[in-house]
Amino acid sequence: MLTRTLPRNLEPGSGELPRAGTTAGAFAQDMVRALASRPRSISPKYFYDAAGSRLFDRICELPEYYPTRTELRILSDHAREIARHMGPKAEIVEFGAGSLRKARLLLDAMDRPARYLPIDISGEHLAQSVAALQQDYPAVDVHPLVADYTQRLLLPAPVPGSGQRVGFFPGSTIGNFTPQEALHFLQVAAQVLRGGALLLGADLVKDPALLHAAYNDAQGVTAAFNLNLLARANRELGARFELDRFAHSAFYNAPHQRIEMHLVSRRRQSIPLGGDCYPLDEGETLHTENSHKFTIDGLRALAMQAGFRPGPVWTDEDRFFSVHWLHAPAG
Ligand code: AVJ
Repeated sequence: MLTRTLPRNLEPGSGELPRAGTTAGAFAQDMVRALASRPRSISPKYFYDAAGSRLFDRICELPEYYPTRTELRILSDHAREIARHMGPKAEIVEFGAGSLRKARLLLDAMDRPARYLPIDISGEHLAQSVAALQQDYPAVDVHPLVADYTQRLLLPAPVPGSGQRVGFFPGSTIGNFTPQEALHFLQVAAQVLRGGALLLGADLVKDPALLHAAYNDAQGVTAAFNLNLLARANRELGARFELDRFAHSAFYNAPHQRIEMHLVSRRRQSIPLGGDCYPLDEGETLHTENSHKFTIDGLRALAMQAGFRPGPVWTDEDRFFSVHWLHAPAG
């Protein structure tokens, strides 16, 4: 499967891969594994370096990409009711916080929020977003955590005298998990949040043409976001992907109820990485993302299986997107 072209020390521009145990080390290991396995696939969490996080923020503004504005609308339409469920002095823990735009709607409506803990894998982007948020909300105690919440979920002790701890997982990022991983994440979340709740955003199944358009925008921002994964590997791992030899592909896999994103090799080629070379035939792909779509009942059943007690669900009039209040019993 691997073809070693030249001895490690003779391969031009193929320095050692980043050390294990670091973020770059995990990326290196997962990229090597992806290129060496069949089918080739890698976690979408690696999209989010600083450039990728900026591209994602642009996706959220695209006319075709309905999830962000639909969820923002749902949150702002129901902020007061959501805040009532949170109760006074609640703490928000946000998973994959990104630009922090959605939490602002909650903070605006909440009764004396105790603390806001945004968790994100993209440190630089998180720091910028937190600085901007803190300016607008000087009274809120903001405690950012740079972490990969898919690996472990260790949270600081709650603020003494605070109310409920409410997890916030918007954007339908839960759709990036396989159904098994989603169940596991929800089980862990139900434990970590016991006595509190999870406010979860989930994109809904709909006309495949609308789904297709959302991941194949006319401006090509989603394509750039997908291809940035390779650019990042070049920057951080010393890989030498030639980006124009890959095409963005996104399609709705109806039986699995998910959008799949791939990078398709436009020709037969060989990728030098960490002293080895990985062949790719014309038409072969690197699978970069799944974005599962849900039904409201399916999501509630999954949450229940994970130990949550599903509460109210808020949705838009087109039923494009859903926001769920999931109570985590105390134990
Ligand atoms: C951040 C995972 C919710 O699946 O819609 C957007 C990522 N990928 N366009 C999604 C994404 C391509 C997004 N999530």
